[in-house]
This record gives sequence, C-alpha cells and structure tokens, in this order.
Amino acid sequence: MNALKQILMILCCVGYTATALPQPITLTVDVANAEKPVNPTMWGLFFEDINMGADGGLYAELVKNRSFEFFRPMMGWSVLGEAAEGALVVLNRQEQQEANPRFLRVNTEKVGPEGLGLRNEGFRGMGIKEGLRYDFSVMYRQRKPGVTLRMELIDSAGNVIGRGKLAPSKGAQGWQKQSVSFSANATDPKARLAVWFDGKGEIDLDMISLFPEDTWKGRPGGLRADMVQMLADMKPGFLRFPGGCIVEGFDLSQRFQWKKTVGPIENRQMIINRWNFEFGHRPTPDYFQTFGLGFFEYFQLAEDIGAEPLPILNCGMACQFNSAEVVPLEQLDEFVQDALDLIEFANGPVSSTWGRLRADMGHPEPFGLKMIGVGNENWGPQYIERLAVFRRAIKDRYPEIAIVASSGTDPNGERFDYLNGELRKMSIDIIDEHFYRHPDWFFENAGRYDGYDRHGPKVFAGEYAAQSVRIASPDNKNNWLTALSEAAFLTGVERNADVVTLASYAPLFAHVDGWQWTPDLIWVDNLHVYGTPNYYVQKLYSTNKGTHIVPITSDGQPLTGQRGLYTSAVLDKNQGELIIKVVNRAGTAAALGLKLPGIRRLPSNAALIELRSDDPDRANSISEPLAVSPQEKTVKIDRKQPGLEVAPYSFNVFKIKLP
Ligand code: AHR
Repeated sequence: MNALKQILMILCCVGYTATALPQPITLTVDVANAEKPVNPTMWGLFFEDINMGADGGLYAELVKNRSFEFFRPMMGWSVLGEAAEGALVVLNRQEQQEANPRFLRVNTEKVGPEGLGLRNEGFRGMGIKEGLRYDFSVMYRQRKPGVTLRMELIDSAGNVIGRGKLAPSKGAQGWQKQSVSFSANATDPKARLAVWFDGKGEIDLDMISLFPEDTWKGRPGGLRADMVQMLADMKPGFLRFPGGCIVEGFDLSQRFQWKKTVGPIENRQMIINRWNFEFGHRPTPDYFQTFGLGFFEYFQLAEDIGAEPLPILNCGMACQFNSAEVVPLEQLDEFVQDALDLIEFANGPVSSTWGRLRADMGHPEPFGLKMIGVGNENWGPQYIERLAVFRRAIKDRYPEIAIVASSGTDPNGERFDYLNGELRKMSIDIIDEHFYRHPDWFFENAGRYDGYDRHGPKVFAGEYAAQSVRIASPDNKNNWLTALSEAAFLTGVERNADVVTLASYAPLFAHVDGWQWTPDLIWVDNLHVYGTPNYYVQKLYSTNKGTHIVPITSDGQPLTGQRGLYTSAVLDKNQGELIIKVVNRAGTAAALGLKLPGIRRLPSNAALIELRSDDPDRANSISEPLAVSPQEKTVKIDRKQPGLEVAPYSFNVFKIKLP
C-alpha cells in the first residue's frame, strides 16, 4: 500500500461522517486578534504532603520513623528475637537537641539464641526492585564497641532478597554517620527491612535510613524518580508548596515553619502531619512530616522541572476548620520575618544569612523567587488584618515580589464576596480561588471569568477538582466525568488567560494504601504511578498553552455549554500553530464549522489529540493506567468548508499549522 493510500485510510477511520451529525455550530476563530498573551507559567502544580504525598511518597526514604520521633517512638518497628530488659531503650535528650531529641540505645550483652534485631515495615511496605542498589545509613554513637549491624530485605513471603553489613567504627567518638550499600535480588512492593544487632556491646542509634539508588537525578536521599517524571512531563509553569491546609496546621504549634525544614536532615524537627487525624473515616496514625522534603528541596524540585517556585506561608492563623487559633497582631513579627527571610533564602546573595544557608546546601545561585503566598484558605477580617501587615513589610523590602492572597474556601458566597472585595480594595497582586465542586458546577461555570475585571488583581485558580460525590467524601472518584467537567471549565480559564494567570488542580498525589482525601491527580503504590483522566486534562492544557489568546465565538458568544459544547483557542506564535480546544459533554458527536477571518489558506489536515471515553465512570488504575488517556490522530480539513468534528464525551485539542 502506498503512503498516500495509507493516510487516506487513516483519515477515513478517524473522521465522523458529517451527514450523521446535527447541524454544525459555526465558530469564528479570530486569529488576527490574538493579542492578549498567555502567561507562560500559567499551568502549574499544587503540592501538599497529604495522602502520603511526601513521606511515603515523593520523598524516597523507605524507613518509617527512622529517628524514633513519632508520637509512639517505636511505631513502624518491631523487635526481632528476644529483647532482654533494658536491651532496647529510647532516650530523649530534648534539653540539648530540641529538633531531634530521641534515639535508641541497643545493648546486646544479654542476647538469646535467636539474636536481637528490629524490623521496619516501611510505608505500607517498601517497594524493592530486583537488581537495584539500596543505600543504608545510620547515625551511631559507640558506648561499648562490639555491635555490628546486619541488614536483610525481606519480601512479603518472608524470603531474604537483599543483605548488607555495617561495622560501626570502634574508635569513633561522638555521633557518626556511616553507610553501606547492597542490592536486591527480587522485586516486591511490600518488602521490609530487618536490622540485626550482632556481637556484644552497647551502641546508640538514630536516623536509620534506606534509600533506593534510582532517585530523581540520582541524588542521594532524594525523591522518587517516577513520581517527579510525571510532574516534569506536564511541563509545569509553577510549583505551589507546601499546601494546602498543612501550611496552617491544626493549631499554631503544628503550622508549617520553613526554617525547621532546611539544613542537615537530622536537625529538621519532625511534626505530626495534620492529615494524620483529620478524617475519622480515614485515620492515618503513622503520618508525620520528617521534612526530608523541605524548602530547599521544594525550590530545587521546582527548578528541576522548569517551574516557578510558589511558596505559601502561614499568616499567623491556624486552620479555621480546626483550632482557628490566631496570633495577636502585636506578635505577628516572627511570622512576617519568616516571609522576609524566605525571600532572602531564595534570592539573597551568599553574603546574606539565609542566602549563605542556601549556598551551604548546594545552591549558591538564587532560585529566582517571584511570588509568595500569604495564608492558605484563611478568611474573615482577622485574615485581612494580618495580610495587610505582611503586605506592607514584603512590599517595603521586596516590591518586585507578587503576593498571592486567599479568597477562602469557596468560589462564591458571603465569605468569598467579603474577601474578594477586600483584596481588590487592597490591590493585592493575585487572588487565590479554590473550587472543590460537583462536576455540574464545573460545566455550569465555564463562563465564570468572562465578566471579571480586566484591570484588577490577577486570579490564581489555586485548587480545584470536580468531586464526583461531594467534598471530602471517601467515595469520590477520578472518573472521566469529573475530568471532562474540568476540561470544560478550563476552556473558560484559558479564554480568560489575561485574568487567570495561574491554575492548578489539587491535591496532586495519593498513595493507594495511604490516602485521606480523594480525588487526586496522580496515584501511586510503592512501585507504580499512574495519571488519572484529570491528569491528562491538566497535561493537555499545560503542554498546549500557546502564547496568545485567540477570541473564539459562536454567534458572537463564547461556547460555554450551548449544545453541550465548550471551546477556547490559543495561538502559539513561536510555532505558527493555532490550537483549538473543544469539549463535547453530549452523548452524540458534534460538527463545528470554522470561520477564520483573515486566514486565506488552511492546511489540508490538522493534528488532533483526543481524550475520551463513552463511560463517564471510567477511571484509570494501577492495573489499567492508560484506560482514559490521550490518543493522537490526523484529521482532514475541508478547505472549502472548514470544520471540526468531535466525538461524544470528548476533550479535543486540535493543532493547525498556519501558513
Ligand atoms: O487539597 C486538599 C485541601 O483542600 C487543601 O489542603 C486545602 O487548602 C483545601 O481545603
């Protein structure tokens, strides 16, 4: 078969016959008026340590409770053999070492025939891969030299699938760190680590750690490469971190304090994760924040994946759904100082205090911070009062830094109206809007931004996700209907990219065995990762963002659900490409006639990336990761009567090269 025949066959197969379709809707695509630029960093990521997103997820540490700092010091550990009285003792030196007070004293002088050891269960097991190197490390202090450490990786059936030995240096004084690497000879998603204490003696142990060699960029003590790759593949414009409600904490003592997450990891003060106990129906008693993924690593991650860093800081208020504690205004200085110091940490010269720390951690060049968030989902006059203090201090010192401020928990209602009004009066730079709503809301609100003030603050659609049941329901699913409704809503975001300059789905990650909140963009187990249909929607917007908004209308109006259709368009001036997005929420195919004023000659075909399923309940999973995923095609364009055809229940990205 010759090439031409092949192409014709493909075109016939992918097309829908126009005769079978209802009367086309005509779209006017005004390429000549593509003047408003799209913020190149518009489509980004929201990261929060929820659902085992960091510990047990992105942070590749395999040992849970490595430093015995969990509420129950031996949580995650079980004793192997028989421990004589006093053989294993947890010591607490909190007066000297507030950040890392506990350690374990091991005495092997009275050990029975079975020996003595500890087994760590990992985070819902440890994902171990055949042939991979594992790096074990420990901090120790000799008391009576003689104890050696023998490590075993144990698979789910109890077989040893990797072995290593470490002989702590006998003459060592004070605390030391020592490492040894060994390989696994089998793959298991739920392996465990045994550490046997051989020989006679007494030794203090802390920071017992195991990392795989295949971390992102091969960094020791780094991040899970497969999870980071999913982010990098989205070509995100920004990375918002560390949340989310985690910024606020249940009470102020549990708020996120960035300074406690930088410097040597053994000095980062672990705290409970607020998602540990948030939902009675999804308790996660072993969920803590070790901060191995701390602020330096967040900045580094953003840089690695080409995203602008967007840190969100506590504004002197704890979560208003929880304790709702507020710092008195006259005691806000420390909080404000944290914000100023963070800007110095990110951008300051190495001669500055915090710039020096950044350099000491391996990054002398500035991170180029341009935006900072003050408060997460905070509300009420108490928020506005505190924000005003932050704003004054930040703008006085760093006028070039854009401030992102909260419009609360909901996209409408009294709380939103009050905050939105106040923030606009303050001329805040960027307003952070959150919407966790039923898919119907997303379909119905595709025109939300069409009437927004073009001269006021910019909008950050900072957290959104369609909830198939209701917000915080454990039965919410990342099904195709939710993704399709988000795709429809996002046509309105893209059409208004001059106002909505940042957008991110939330939350980002969830572990299939350790989640608290659903739906989530990307799901993982200990060895695999998959993107939801919602992930592919985000990715299609982010990787087809264009450079300028193209006005696209039908009868002078944007399509925001008429006959089940939603559209937006952008021009990529660098590629000379027109990108038209069409969502069809109807159960029948649709035809769209195209008018392109000023464009004299169209190519005879276009590329189509189609995301669709006939089943609104269809979802992806570990075993079927690509059940709903983009398919690329070539479609024919009739030059005399240009038009596009879209399948039922589909999200379509058409890419047309312009002459
Ligand atoms: O994304 C989950 C939570 O939803 C975030 O922590 C919070 O900001 C919002 O309420």
